Amino acid sequence: MRVYVPKDAAARALGADAVAEALTREAEARGMEITLVRTGSRGMIWLEPLVEVEMDGLRHGWGPADPRDAAAILDGAGPKALGPVEELDWMKRQTRLTFARVGVVDPASLPDYAAHGGLAGLRRALEMTDAQIVAEVRESGLRGRGGAGFPTGLKWETVRTAPGPVKYIVCNADEGDSGTFADRMLMEGDPFCLIEGMAIAGLAVGAEKGFVYIRSEYPDAIAAMESAIAAARAGGMLGVSVLGSGRAFDMEVRVGAGAYVCGEETSLLNSLEGKRGTVRAKPPLPALEGAFGRPTVVNNVISLASVPTILANGAAAYAAQGLGRSRGTIPMQIAGNVARGGLFEAGFGMSLGRIVDDLAGGTASGRPVRAVQVGGPLGAYFGREKFDTPFGYEEFDGQGGLIGHAGIVVFDDSVDMLAQARFAMEFCAVESCGKCTPCRIGAVRGVEVLDRVAAGDPAALPLLADLCETMRDGSLCALGGFTPYPVMSAVTGFPEDFGGAREAAE
Ligand code: NAI
Ligand code: SF4
Repeated sequence: MRVYVPKDAAARALGADAVAEALTREAEARGMEITLVRTGSRGMIWLEPLVEVEMDGLRHGWGPADPRDAAAILDGAGPKALGPVEELDWMKRQTRLTFARVGVVDPASLPDYAAHGGLAGLRRALEMTDAQIVAEVRESGLRGRGGAGFPTGLKWETVRTAPGPVKYIVCNADEGDSGTFADRMLMEGDPFCLIEGMAIAGLAVGAEKGFVYIRSEYPDAIAAMESAIAAARAGGMLGVSVLGSGRAFDMEVRVGAGAYVCGEETSLLNSLEGKRGTVRAKPPLPALEGAFGRPTVVNNVISLASVPTILANGAAAYAAQGLGRSRGTIPMQIAGNVARGGLFEAGFGMSLGRIVDDLAGGTASGRPVRAVQVGGPLGAYFGREKFDTPFGYEEFDGQGGLIGHAGIVVFDDSVDMLAQARFAMEFCAVESCGKCTPCRIGAVRGVEVLDRVAAGDPAALPLLADLCETMRDGSLCALGGFTPYPVMSAVTGFPEDFGGAREAAE
């Protein structure tokens, strides 16, 4: 009997290790033969720890499991039985391309990866020229999933055609946005998929070395990636001859030291090189002068992990999903005050209201939803009047927001939007790398001005708008440049929370 228990950090935080131990003990006591496989998470965090048992070729779920449920699970019964996991509404409604194997495979096993469709993209890429691989990625419409949405194929083409004998692939796994966990889940649940994506990127641009820059707060992801890289080397997927082709590609993990700004690509490159994590001015683009001064592809985990499915099934299949210029699927991460939080991968285009009210089931507190912040701490707050906005890069931009890394954080009607605006400025002040004045000084002044707003100072609101304009236009990177999004969206979308100063001004 095969029993699957997630080893994902969220499932472990909810007690998955104790459940795995209880299942092993119970099976031993019964003299029952079980094979216990530790997987990634399916993304239904409210059901974690979610135990799955293979019965008649289908995986049946139990959750949220407790060590005391071990006997019932091995009996194939009990009140927490959910039936076949693939038939659950949350699973059935998804289009899982990038996350197809997460929660299914043993993340430590290269043979299991290959048995579930892994390596097909890399094998196809090995039969193509570098220009053909880039063209395939370009035709898929894939855009940077880290937040900026820059076309991945175009970035790869810049690196491919850049002169120089040495080039690098750098994966940005410094997932720092509030309410985001897709990178972590992918690395813990299907690390070979990221390795395959990076190897394909290497073939496409002529790079033989890759780095995965992972934040230090992700010890489980670091361990999963390190052991998968070792297994990939031992299995011939990485090294001097990738899958016996004679083409070389190898990679290593570099661990960050815990600064939000190291998610910004040039700051990440400085940190990767052992320097202080401050932002570099662009140009030169990292595509031309990146890691160690060499042409470098810097892509987010999800961008790179989407490449194997694109190569395996063709650009057209990927591009068939989505809306407008947002092609393919997006793993949305639903968090905050929600009844059902987790990861949901679907083609772009679902409305924000459907995500929040239908998928997430509204708030955990049972109170009305008041605000949703999409795109991390630098994303705008949307109220209900914007719930019709379809999930897409241009669609959110048109409403004064951004989808960023697709983190969706929900707040109920007890939220104080003035406090949220102040938090955004405070966050920027704390995390600023200090390189440019509008951010370094502007954010500190921003906190002070918001305190004046709170005290009812009528002159403070116009000053805040002015300061935000300066930060937006004058900052060197997205941290200072995007902080005005949450601040000004709170002021304009929820003016009643800024009442004291607003009334005094009127
Ligand atoms: P950007 O718009 O300057 O650049 C986007 C990407 O395209 C970069 O990798 C850049 O090097 C590349 N690029 C631009 N022109 C190119 C060309 N002609 N050829 C090749 N490559 C080219 O955006 P930036 O400042 O790198 O990122 C801002 C975004 O990052 C924001 O949308 C924000 O939401 C997001 N972000 C995400 C975080 C996370 O934790 N995932 C943290 C902080 C910000
Ligand atoms: Fe550094 Fe802030 Fe300027 Fe970015 S905007 S370069 S984080 S000081």
